Amino acid sequence: MSEIENLLREDLRGRSPYGAPQLDVPVQLNTNENAHPIPEDVAAVVAEFIGRELRGLNRYPDRDAVALRTDLAAYLGHGLTADHVWAANGSNEILQQLLQAFGGPGRTVLGFMPSYSMHPLLARGTGTAFADAGREAGYTLSPAFAAAAIERHDPDLVFLVSPNNPTGTALGADVIEAAYEAARGLVVIDEAYTEFARDPASTALGRLAGRPRLVVTRTMSKAFAFAGARVGYLAADPELVEKLLLVRLPYHLSSITQAAARGALACAPRLQAEVDQLKHQRDRIVKNLRAKGLPVADSDANFVLVGGLRDAAAVWRAVLDRGVLIRDVGLPGRLRITAGTEEETTALLDAFDAVLEARPALFDSATEPQQEQQP
Ligand SMILES: Cc1ncc(COP(=O)(O)O)c(C=O)c1O
Repeated sequence: MSEIENLLREDLRGRSPYGAPQLDVPVQLNTNENAHPIPEDVAAVVAEFIGRELRGLNRYPDRDAVALRTDLAAYLGHGLTADHVWAANGSNEILQQLLQAFGGPGRTVLGFMPSYSMHPLLARGTGTAFADAGREAGYTLSPAFAAAAIERHDPDLVFLVSPNNPTGTALGADVIEAAYEAARGLVVIDEAYTEFARDPASTALGRLAGRPRLVVTRTMSKAFAFAGARVGYLAADPELVEKLLLVRLPYHLSSITQAAARGALACAPRLQAEVDQLKHQRDRIVKNLRAKGLPVADSDANFVLVGGLRDAAAVWRAVLDRGVLIRDVGLPGRLRITAGTEEETTALLDAFDAVLEARPALFDSATEPQQEQQP
């Protein structure tokens, strides 16, 4: 063991950091980014908002980000105000702050894997134990399964992801209700992809009133095509938001970030139109791969999980050899594909066609078109 490794916290020794491959490939459909660049007219608005801040950069930003939180609350609706909303550098930082304040050494967060791979890493970084309840057949989650797992583990926090990553499907309201009833601690619904849901009413925002332990986390990385800007946020009871101030770094969200986010929020309907196009490409992938005989889960996100792969790693490599990078999330027989632009999606489907034709042995059985599948 090196001297540095020896000095490292024991629970971090020998661990690997988060690391989705960042390869220089023509078509990148592996990290669930928004495939559309910021449109010119939106970029002009964002630039104007940022420009107004530049001369004031000698001062620290508003550490409570009140103007941004006011705009986020207006975007969310459901009667929410700035007091219900908190913002940070990506929803990863939001989740980390929740764990810092409500988790930590001696405490447990319960997750239902396969789900967002950062949840266990954020737990580890904050010294919070991560318990994995797993899922039912086909990666589904029923109210009874969720409630029983919560009763068994008695966690301080529960992380639910809706729509789930990597399966893509939104949770029913009954699962969220059952989890909340069973839990004594926080129930956090990670809604990073909710703007892509087939049913816009599937958000848990409408359930916040009267449920002080319920938290909904969101991000501008996906629907707002703002992954590079790093803006995530949550909606919850104002008292819970106040408690998060105990763990945030002072001035954690730069003036430029706050201004850029406000500029993008001012263009929300314009950006939602881009989301609608990506939803169309997502549905195109689902339909097309099913027609090829591959099982694909229904998706409420900007990605799909395809199954029926005898050798997922070899399919991943063969598709990459055709210039398209998708994601091997480590699930046997499955790969995750982010919806791209129309051209990127065509390239992906062409690559799959070519691999199916050249190497049919990599697939389970690609003869019969598949029926709808629910993960
Ligand atoms: C389910 C889920 N939550 C949160 C995030 C983090 O998003 P960000 O930190 O960019 O807001 C992601 C990113 O891929 C995600 O898939």
